[in-house]
Amino acid sequence: MKKILITRKLIKSSEENALRLFDVKLNQEDKLLSKDQLIKESNNCDGILSSLTEKFDSEVISKLSTTVKIISNFAVGFGNIDIDAAKKRNIAVTNTPDVLTDATAEIAILILLGAARRAKEGIKWANKKNWKWSADFLMGKQLTEARLGILGMGRIGRAIADRARSFGMKIHYHNRSRLDKNLEKNAVYHQSLKSLLSVSDFFSINCPANKDTRHIINKETIKHFPDGAVISNSARGDMIDDDAMVEALKSGKIYSLGLDVYNGEPDIHPEYLTLPNVFVLPHLGSATKKTRTAMADLAVKNIDEFFRTGTCKNRVN
Ligand code: GLV
Repeated sequence: MKKILITRKLIKSSEENALRLFDVKLNQEDKLLSKDQLIKESNNCDGILSSLTEKFDSEVISKLSTTVKIISNFAVGFGNIDIDAAKKRNIAVTNTPDVLTDATAEIAILILLGAARRAKEGIKWANKKNWKWSADFLMGKQLTEARLGILGMGRIGRAIADRARSFGMKIHYHNRSRLDKNLEKNAVYHQSLKSLLSVSDFFSINCPANKDTRHIINKETIKHFPDGAVISNSARGDMIDDDAMVEALKSGKIYSLGLDVYNGEPDIHPEYLTLPNVFVLPHLGSATKKTRTAMADLAVKNIDEFFRTGTCKNRVN
């Protein structure tokens, strides 16, 4: 039986699933493992089922037990793993696409609405109990007929577009390549980021985190948005230069921001917590029982497939 380290606690049924297939080392207390602990715990393991809370940089990868042949990430994003370093050591890296698309799109819409309709201020007022309705109380921005720019039109970007269409939004996007007509569904393709930003009354970040997309929303690119744009990020914190964003939120260039992901999670830029026009959630994108179970089962299945067949459909390196 292959020996597998599962770095974080999973939903019980998924752990039982893993226990049927592998000799499993569980993290019952769900403690965050440091780099040194990860390296130590990998001893004699054939595979690791990892979470986005562990960073497998090239140093960690180089020190993992030589028995490790696969890192199965319990996430669709894999920016926490240096996949090239893993490849050099002949370690396969896999992810969990598709199963979290709908749940993540729901959260993307929630943060877009939360930012546009001033939910943070509204919750604060409601909790104070001394609010008073008036014709101009907490007026926000309406999604209907506005243009939504989507950066990254993969599965999640397209699921957000489907939901946004039902709000009456007009969809624009920028992607590495233009989509086929049946996937595009009349969304307007922009070859350049600058062109997309210039029409984005609303903007949703849904591209992968990598060296090309790091801080792609920065002091320079923010200038291209229409004044008073609403931005949301449900992908990874890396895409936003937080200091530039805070400045734009304070000046009103950016009307409001909805966030589910952060640079250096679980830390959050302190001004995002104090500014009234930033609506924040603690990385809840895939957090439904249905989705987390499907993700964990897929992460287990990826390891099983890899050891049975020598390859895996969801391999990313
Ligand atoms: C969640 O953020 C994921 O990448 O699965």
